[in-house]
Parts: sequence; C-alpha cells; structure tokens
Amino acid sequence: MTENNLKTKKIISLGPSGRAVAQPMDEGLLDNFYEHLTMERYANVQYFSIYLWFQERDLDGFASFFLNESQGEMEHAYKFANYFVARGQTVKLNEIPAPVQSWDSIEDLISYSFNMEADLTSSLQQLYSISERISDTRTNVFLDPIIDAQTKSEDEFAHLLGKVKFAANQPSAILLINSDLKKK
Ligand SMILES: [Fe+2]
Repeated sequence: MTENNLKTKKIISLGPSGRAVAQPMDEGLLDNFYEHLTMERYANVQYFSIYLWFQERDLDGFASFFLNESQGEMEHAYKFANYFVARGQTVKLNEIPAPVQSWDSIEDLISYSFNMEADLTSSLQQLYSISERISDTRTNVFLDPIIDAQTKSEDEFAHLLGKVKFAANQPSAILLINSDLKKK
C-alpha cells in the first residue's frame, strides 16, 4: 500500500452500512430518529385504516383526503430513511402497533388524527433541539422544511376538526364537508 492510499484510508470513516460518512451520527439522536420513523410509518397505516373506515361508509371525500394523508406519511418515512442512508446509517425498522379501526364519531376520529399530528410535531422538535445541542447542522437543515410542512398539517387538521365539530353529526352538514374534501 502506498503512503497516499494509507492516508485516504485514514481520513474516510465508514458508517455501519459501509458507506463513507462525513460526520458520524450521534447514537442518541439516531435512536430518536428511528422512533420518529416508526411514528411516520404508524401514521401511514393509521390514515390508511381511516381511509377504509370512510370508504365503507360511502364518504368518498373524507376517504380520498385520508388516502392522500396516508401516502404523505409514507413519503415522510421514505425521506427519513433516505436521510439515514445518506448519512451512512443502516435503517432500523421497528414494529408498528395495529391501527385503531373503530370510532364512536367522525369528531373522535379527527381529534385522534389531530393529536397524532401534534405528537409528530413534538417528536420533530425534539430531534431538532438534540441536533442543535450536538451541532449536527446537517440534520437541522434537513429538518427545517419538514417542520414547516408539519406545522401546516396541524393547521389543516385543526381546521377540519373545527368544521366537523360545527357539523355536530348532522348528516347534511357532514355531506357538505365530504363534498368540499372531494374537490380538493
Ligand atoms: Fe408525517
């Protein structure tokens, strides 16, 4: 081995996947990231289950809204997984709980969704503050647009919850919301 080769070997560190790593990822941060990935995957399955609940009740506007949400959560999961790969990590997939499939009312279901969005935001904020504390700027830059989109998502669910609360389970009002969602 030439002296140059030796130098190259020394300066490039490799992550667990064998890929070159510019800045190693903190293990504590990574554990929080894997947990967050599980939350995104859970949201994907939960929204898919809600999509089915509305499909079974012929509320196709609500159904397409939740199918879209479900797909959005899977895209978030891809984004996180691809970020781990880019940082030379292997992607750990944890078990996800079974989704809730029975609801007492549409309001309960939307409230549950709103809380799930708020939990996702808290988890993202936690990731953000850990990365800031350990000066992992790459992660902060990665999280910026994601946190922005997540805040918009909370707002969207708060708006939908407000409308559903106002409808107070009256079929004609629920059908109006349903057709509004279909137009989106
Ligand atoms: Fe998400």
